[in-house]
Amino acid sequence: MSQFELSKHLKNIQPSPIRAFNDRISGIEGIIRLTIGEPDFPTPTVAKEAAIEAINNDLNGYTHSAGLMELRETISVYLERKYKVNYDASTEILVTHGATEALFASLFAVLNPGDKVITPTPSYVIYQTQVRLAGGEFIPVDVSDDGFKLTPERLKQVLAEHPDTKVIIFNYPSNPLGVTYHGDELEALAKIFKEHGLIVVSDEIYAELTYDTTHVSMSELLPDQTILINGTAKSHSMTGWRSGFIASRAEFISEIFKVHQSCINTPNTQMQYASIAAYNDGDKDIAEMKATYYKRRNYLMDRFADLGFNTSDPEGAFYLFVQVPEWYQGDDFDFCLAMANDAKVGCVPGSGFGEAGKNWFRVSYAASMESLEEAMDRIEKFVKENN
Ligand SMILES: Cc1ncc(COP(=O)(O)O)c(C=O)c1O
Repeated sequence: MSQFELSKHLKNIQPSPIRAFNDRISGIEGIIRLTIGEPDFPTPTVAKEAAIEAINNDLNGYTHSAGLMELRETISVYLERKYKVNYDASTEILVTHGATEALFASLFAVLNPGDKVITPTPSYVIYQTQVRLAGGEFIPVDVSDDGFKLTPERLKQVLAEHPDTKVIIFNYPSNPLGVTYHGDELEALAKIFKEHGLIVVSDEIYAELTYDTTHVSMSELLPDQTILINGTAKSHSMTGWRSGFIASRAEFISEIFKVHQSCINTPNTQMQYASIAAYNDGDKDIAEMKATYYKRRNYLMDRFADLGFNTSDPEGAFYLFVQVPEWYQGDDFDFCLAMANDAKVGCVPGSGFGEAGKNWFRVSYAASMESLEEAMDRIEKFVKENN
């Protein structure tokens, strides 16, 4: 028993189950890990060179807490170019330490104790943790029966049950599902968000990795109510750089700024120079990575279909959500553990993304084609031996 009593608030908060599962299986010799959502490409050369130049020019001091004005202006131009939206660089954009800090600061700025936050699930695990840390009530909306998408009917039903809902965290393309929403689907949902006066925390970190359809930003449809979250982590293969941003109305940004400043004071300087280059000159790199992800996605979908697995229908990000086959006696956790130990392929149990993910598992295809081919051969053998 420790003599110290630490925060009671944290007693019911658990570290990420995905990382815990990944750590658990990492020691298995020869395992191919399709667990972590991290691009396997190098960061674009333009971004690397910009950071090196900043270091060599001794640009190593603090910047403005909201980020370098040059970067905020670059983000403003980037958003207009990509999503036809207009944000003022001095009052409506904040540079953050990745999308994670952007989400954290946004939730802490908008939530009062007990405020309700809904989100379609299975969802990215950090949402639940952050909402609860900020004192809100997290309400998962299970969308597994609707092709893993939030429909207007389901949304209306949830809002009828929880008419005092304040915030929706909406993520598309989705982690862990890979599904995304088309323009008409978004319009129908945005109409209901508007009617109910919801604040929409729109996590569009995978927007650039949208296949077969065009990404429409919630900030175009509902600028007054949206807190737009994005960054370079997934689009530009820059996870470790910790480069994110928030774009929203000035009234929201000025409050979010207070949380942001007390958390991190200022974003990393060299990362910001790299990000300017990435947003300005990274399109070619994005196009190449996207084409590669798309090939891998199609390959995996074909292989899983041949083996009789049900999968989500991903149109973005680099994840495939796969159902544990009926012949398997056990849940998603048992299945992933057996695959890790016997087939030496690591995938994440779906229940790590909420109850709605039970009996599914997530495959990340941010891995080379050779690794995916080998992983699928091993899964095929595992299926034949166990079915
Ligand atoms: C949906 C989603 N949002 C946010 C993040 C975090 O992004 P960042 O690395 O910029 O903090 C991730 C990372 O996996 C994610 O999947």
